Amino acid sequence: MTTQNISNRKDAHLSRCLLPDMRGSGSTLPNIHLPYEADFPISDTALDTSTSIADRQLAFPLIIGCMTGGTPAATEFNETLRQIAGEFGIGLGLGSIRACLENAALLPTYGTTSTHWLFGNIGISEIMHERHTPDTVRAMLQKLGCHGLYIHFNMIQEWLQPEGDHDLYTDLDILNRFINHLDMPVILKEVGSGIGGKCAQRLAKLNIRGIETASQNGTSWIRIEASRRSPTLDPLFTHALDQIGIPLERAIRDCRQALGKRTVIASGGIEDPLTLVKCLACGADAVSIAQPIYAAYKSGGTQAARRWIHDLIQTSRLIWRSTGSKNISTLRQVIL
Ligand SMILES: Cc1cc2nc3c(=O)[nH]c(=O)nc-3n(C[C@H](O)[C@H](O)[C@H](O)COP(=O)(O)O)c2cc1C
Repeated sequence: MTTQNISNRKDAHLSRCLLPDMRGSGSTLPNIHLPYEADFPISDTALDTSTSIADRQLAFPLIIGCMTGGTPAATEFNETLRQIAGEFGIGLGLGSIRACLENAALLPTYGTTSTHWLFGNIGISEIMHERHTPDTVRAMLQKLGCHGLYIHFNMIQEWLQPEGDHDLYTDLDILNRFINHLDMPVILKEVGSGIGGKCAQRLAKLNIRGIETASQNGTSWIRIEASRRSPTLDPLFTHALDQIGIPLERAIRDCRQALGKRTVIASGGIEDPLTLVKCLACGADAVSIAQPIYAAYKSGGTQAARRWIHDLIQTSRLIWRSTGSKNISTLRQVIL
């Protein structure tokens, strides 16, 4: 696949992810109920929202989810995200760095502003086919100003892409060898069908810092890729693929159980502050949100994205305080 094709595909993803019907109904954790302490025993200044993710501190447990890079259309967006992440003390994941590994001229499209928690991103297909050595990837991450690497599983997405890897599977030895040689913090993630169950336990045996759940119900890569196919897939088949995967609550609990004290990041269809706080109460160390932030940016540029994140954080703080918890560890005890 040429880098021009990779850029074109990223452009298609950016435009299609905003179309109606390209997301599930959202993950709202309806079975989780937070206590409500009407007297609000914790003041806003006493609330400690800090969390440590892969040895780096966040002021608030929010990560802007991995989205883009590798297309000129991404440059301004990534620059905005880097600035906003720095302003709010939150994390940022980049979109796949495959494009700039294959064409270094695309490096500026990932943004250049330095920020305190920045993870690069690569697909499992690149690792399984050993297309880039750990040394090459590390050097690129350093050029991008990254502190670690997300590796994403996207088997169903690859299968649906005409140009994708149709028989992609994971050889854990190859993956672990790559992680060990990379010698930088690695977090594993999905892209919207979730990680949980025995898979979380298998992955927990690797030398990883954590897992991001990327659960069902968020941006649907099944629907997006199915809509790019010509002829398209029978809608019933698309629906069938869309139904499989791990829901958010189960993914958080399974990953927490598998990983012990290592990082669990909840993601996939999280789009409101109540769900964010519920995820933390269920055991996540942080929450990652992708498409809703891009949607805010497209609706009104940098100001709109900044306002959306500001309001999300402030409203989450209020809900957090309403549970009577002063930090993330006490918040975890309220529903256990
Ligand atoms: C436009 C767009 C591009 C994405 N590109 C990547 C990517 O390159 N690598 C990756 O691991 N995940 C990618 N994702 C998936 C997100 O990181 C996230 O796991 C998924 O969208 C679910 O979160 P959401 O419901 O908040 O969007 C992308 C998401 C969007 C919306």
